[in-house]
Amino acid sequence: MTKPEKYLLVIKQIKAVVLDEKDLIANLANISAILKTTFDWWWVGFYFVKDKELVVGPFQGPVACTRIAFGKGVCGSTWQKGESMIVHNVHDFPGHIACSADSLSEIVVPIFKDEKVEMVLDVDSEKEAHFDKADQKYLEEICQFISTII
Ligand code: SME
Repeated sequence: MTKPEKYLLVIKQIKAVVLDEKDLIANLANISAILKTTFDWWWVGFYFVKDKELVVGPFQGPVACTRIAFGKGVCGSTWQKGESMIVHNVHDFPGHIACSADSLSEIVVPIFKDEKVEMVLDVDSEKEAHFDKADQKYLEEICQFISTII
């Protein structure tokens, strides 16, 4: 399957899985599982904005940093900017937070509620420059959908 075909399937699966379920944590857990099993990324999951920090939520992959401060790392910077960020090599990103030494590239997408960042979706790969504008487009579409089920 091509990347767009995979994303279109993922979007269908996500919509099907949340159709009759209102529990946000359950839905985010299944969404991270759908993404992980389809793309086999190193780490994929959600961070919630709680007070002045991001706190890890449902994810798939190795153990992650529990809390990330506003403006710190790729996740905290995405929260601060309110826009998606692609980092091709995390070693070139000043202030990158290395939850895992094996992670090399990353994409983070904000999820809004009432025009405020409520969560971020973080995806990490052990391959360099693994994410591109197509990933951004589809992941933003998924995050836009998630903002409707918060
Ligand atoms: N690398 C991220 C931290 C989160 S984890 O990789 C799961 C960052 O710089 O924000």
